[in-house]
Amino acid sequence: MILLTGATGYIGSHTWVKLLETGYEVIGLDNFSNSSQHVIDRIEKITNKKALFIEADVQDKFSLSDLFKKNQIEGVIHFAALKAVGESVQRPLDYYSNNLNGLLNLLGVLARFDCHNFVLSSSATVYHPENPIPYVEGMPLGSTSPYGWTKYMSEQILRDLEASNPEWRIAYLRYFNPVGAHPSGLIGEDPRGIPNNLMPFVTQVAVGKRKELSIFGGDWPTHDGTGVRDYIHVQDLARGHVRAIDYLLNQKKSLTVNLGAGKGYSVLDLVKSFEKASGQKIPYQIVDRRSGDIAAFYADASLADELLDWRIEFDLDAMCHDSWRWQSNNPNGFED
Ligand code: NAD
Ligand code: WQD
Repeated sequence: MILLTGATGYIGSHTWVKLLETGYEVIGLDNFSNSSQHVIDRIEKITNKKALFIEADVQDKFSLSDLFKKNQIEGVIHFAALKAVGESVQRPLDYYSNNLNGLLNLLGVLARFDCHNFVLSSSATVYHPENPIPYVEGMPLGSTSPYGWTKYMSEQILRDLEASNPEWRIAYLRYFNPVGAHPSGLIGEDPRGIPNNLMPFVTQVAVGKRKELSIFGGDWPTHDGTGVRDYIHVQDLARGHVRAIDYLLNQKKSLTVNLGAGKGYSVLDLVKSFEKASGQKIPYQIVDRRSGDIAAFYADASLADELLDWRIEFDLDAMCHDSWRWQSNNPNGFED
């Protein structure tokens, strides 16, 4: 059985579906600090399977120990974390505390129950911002926000653990910019409050929840002056997790890979693609650059291809189509 922490969140829920469809037994865990209970019914509806779930905090040792006592867990995919970059600058202690205490607590329980297969949700944000693009796994690391440092430190903690005991097998998955939603339109990204990320902001403008998009900077050194990122469909990302778990269980080795499309698109490229996919006009205004942003980054995704036989199946148009289907079917997210 595979344990997913942060299972009802955006990436966790899509991965849960993929694992069940692949034939894995899964148990989900979440404290609902950034997700809805309705996700569980939707997962059952999509997969036609029972979704085993426990409401708990990864910082709660007793609940985790109890879970491991009652279930034969052979691997863990650890999504549970706080993830808003701007908020992490305002509330660094909450981020260090939740993301690092949660990880340490979970690893302590895993060690006690001899479960050594672990997948970390890492991020492109662990690459030093001065690296040339595309980002390759061996490049220098660093970060620009407390959130980013929690991912950097999480990787370091796990590397020290691996060095201490060769039984540990860790997949460090560095995601680029996940967007899109399940093709059923039943699950998708549902951020609380004002979205920080581009795609949920665009979809909320499209359903009339927000007036217009603010584009952060029109004078970046990119092909049209707007920021360039590597958008990856959440369905491709979810499939990457299934491949990573297969790899840990079968190859019995650790790995560090980028999960990105390997291509960069600008904000305006995404807006145009979204308008085509949805038939909706996205009014926008170019405003000042957002502090901490950089002009462009995208992945070199060739190592994931080589080690996991994984490459993307969905392009930007498909990402926009699926994001739109999700948001238009669920204008208020899971709270409809
Ligand atoms: P999300 O907020 O939708 O999901 C995270 C889930 O973890 C939420 O359901 C939240 O309730 C839960 N959670 C948080 N702290 C918890 C705790 N202490 N105990 C139990 N549950 C807890 O975020 P997401 O976009 O699905 O991201 C999943 C993971 O991927 C995170 O670790 C995030 O840092 C990482 N990541 C996300 C992105 C992105 O852009 N979405 C990019 C790179 C990495
Ligand atoms: C994308 C582009 C913005 C919103 C963040 C984290 C990173 C990772 C993914 C977790 C940029 C522009 C955005 C808006 C805009 N998360 N933009 N108007 O900044 O690449 O990465 O999420 O690990 O760690 O830093 O993603 O979606 O915020 O921005 O113009 O309202 O869209 O400037 O060029 P980012 P994003």
